Amino acid sequence: MLVSTSFLSCENPAKDLKILNETDTDFIHVDVMDGIFVPGRTMPFKEVKKIYKYTSKRLDVHLMVEEPSKLIKKFANLNCEFISIHVESENVENNLKLIKKYAIKSGIAINPETEVKELVPYLPLVDMILVMSVTPGQGGQTFIPKTKNKLKEIAKLLDEYKSKAIISVDGGITDETKKNCPQASILVSGSYIVKSSNFQERINSLR
Ligand code: DX5
Ligand code: ZN
Repeated sequence: MLVSTSFLSCENPAKDLKILNETDTDFIHVDVMDGIFVPGRTMPFKEVKKIYKYTSKRLDVHLMVEEPSKLIKKFANLNCEFISIHVESENVENNLKLIKKYAIKSGIAINPETEVKELVPYLPLVDMILVMSVTPGQGGQTFIPKTKNKLKEIAKLLDEYKSKAIISVDGGITDETKKNCPQASILVSGSYIVKSSNFQERINSLR
């Protein structure tokens, strides 16, 4: 199991990123919120770029924004493994193609209330489905139990359409809730890891 650590809930991101750099977390999950697509707002790109120098890990960027194209272009200059946009955002097809143009793996995120069939038109363009197991907007929320069925539905859909996209699950992930996600290749976890006194121990418990 791959682990992507979200630093959204870190009180001191620079300090925690240095600590995370010493762990074996596979990716740093970078949550970006514009205050429009979701009510919350995260630090501007200028700030992300500054703290990014504290990590040599590859980034797993999650754009919770209405119009992602400008940010895709900016993040493309950093060390990104994935950039994910939401199926509920604008110009999805063009933005997925833009991510691919930079030779970065593309992800499509899906909110808890969005039907799985909305993913179908984009399957040929995506490397990862980022399944939201909380309503996006903030860290530290509780895993929504019906995600368990949604994951089964998504795995079936990928099979049906012969898609090789992997599944990542994001929100409220702990050593307990991970049991609901056998279809996942990546678990994104924030507060469970960064609010603890031993990041590596928590990462181990998710693998
Ligand atoms: C939710 C974010 C998640 C979140 C994960 O809006 O997309 O990445 O920060 O954090 P936890 O694990 O605390 O739910
Ligand atoms: Zn996220």
